[in-house]
Amino acid sequence: MGSIIILDHISFSVQTSDIIRNISYRFRERKVTVLVGPSGGGKSTLLKLAAGLLIPSSGSVYFWERDIALMNRKENLNFRKSSAFVFQDSALWANQSLYQSLELPLKLHFPDMQRKDRDLRIREILSRVGYKRELSIRPSELSMGEQKLIACARAMLCHPNLYFLDELTESLDDLSDQRLVNIIKSFKQEYKTIILVSHEFKVIKELADYVVVIAGGRFIQEFPIEDIQSNSDLIERLGGVDMTD
Ligand SMILES: Nc1ncnc2c1ncn2[C@@H]1O[C@H](COP(=O)(O)OP(=O)(O)OP(=O)(O)O)[C@@H](O)[C@H]1O
Ligand SMILES: [Mg+2]
Repeated sequence: MGSIIILDHISFSVQTSDIIRNISYRFRERKVTVLVGPSGGGKSTLLKLAAGLLIPSSGSVYFWERDIALMNRKENLNFRKSSAFVFQDSALWANQSLYQSLELPLKLHFPDMQRKDRDLRIREILSRVGYKRELSIRPSELSMGEQKLIACARAMLCHPNLYFLDELTESLDDLSDQRLVNIIKSFKQEYKTIILVSHEFKVIKELADYVVVIAGGRFIQEFPIEDIQSNSDLIERLGGVDMTD
């Protein structure tokens, strides 16, 4: 099994504050890796670094063999097309309708796609995530949970192989939460690679192949799936996850 994303001694600082401190880690292809850890520990920052949305202050991030910071425009566009990111705060375009937000990645990555095919793809994905309201509205008219569903739909539109998901199931009702967990399960069966941040035991239990604890900007420990149950106390203490069912 190859390493799709490699973090090679990466650090990230803002002014004098060290947010990520010398982390090296290999994310395995076709596996689900769940980042856990206390609030403010650096999980979202690490996810953005792994996805090339932030550039490390030192060290390198590789997508396969290629340093993301050194990719040319075409390589970068291909990397963006084959990967998708869902932000912790969903990050939809505030001044665009939901439909425009969803149409944009298809227009960018599939410029030859017909309008009716785009429309079909958008409707299919929305029914998969269970979003039923209209699409002419702006994100500010949605609840946090609904924004997550739209952000998740947007991520799925171009059928990427690699997903970066930050607290995907946060602020969702149980039904939507379970629906997204099931969608990620189906990605897993399709051998997609998923790197996600979560505080939820259910997400770990149902999806994780590896759990990685990040705290104080540092890599603390990795737990493969077979060690998760026997280390639940440790994961709870180090990772800030309530490991009770
Ligand atoms: N652009 C920035 N400028 C200054 N400080 C930042 C910046 N981005 C993150 N930080 C700080 O870095 C630390 C890690 O933030 P990060 O969002 O990665 O944590 P997290 O583990 O995702 O937390 P949570 O579980 O609350 O989402 C925090 O103390 C945060 O305030
Ligand atoms: Mg975060």
